[in-house]
Amino acid sequence: KGDPRLKAISEAIRVIPNFPKPGIMFQDITTLLLDHNAFKHTIDIFVDRYRDMDISVVAGVEARGFMFGPSIALAIGAKFVPLRKPRKLPGEVISESYVLEYGTDSLEMHVGAVRPGDRALIIDDLVATGGTLFAAINLLERSGAEVTECACVIGLPIVKERFRSNGKRLYFLVEPR
Ligand code: PRP
Repeated sequence: KGDPRLKAISEAIRVIPNFPKPGIMFQDITTLLLDHNAFKHTIDIFVDRYRDMDISVVAGVEARGFMFGPSIALAIGAKFVPLRKPRKLPGEVISESYVLEYGTDSLEMHVGAVRPGDRALIIDDLVATGGTLFAAINLLERSGAEVTECACVIGLPIVKERFRSNGKRLYFLVEPR
């Protein structure tokens, strides 16, 4: 808070009302990616926070976690692991489903990508209910990793409380616009 970079990041996120359906204020991070300074600030803040936390794996959630995770992984010297939607990964996978407004979805991770003793950071663009990130946490923990924190560009304090009450940590840079 008080970091002027956060204002630049927030202002670079475009809000598109009623996408993908009526009533949703879509938080579009593609405009953040177009703004070199704001994108760089975003990666810099994450890298400064995580470089000395002994993180060995950065796990990114499809699709928009893939746009932030690899840069962070390279900068802090960790491996990058994609957590993908069903039937995308070619090797043996473990799978974790989560509840959506209507129905369920799941995330998959390659067996062997994460090992017992790995210290993980999970990254996505945005947390709404937290369902996706809790599924991601379960995938990592089932593989024996310790999940240090989940990090997003956009989040809500109330969701951070939900993480805390479940013994998990959530970090985010800005609130929805
Ligand atoms: C969005 C967002 C997060 C998730 C957050 O992804 O990028 O991954 O929803 O929602 P939650 O906290 O309620 O679980 P989306 O499902 O749109 O998938 P996509 O990035 O592949 O388009």
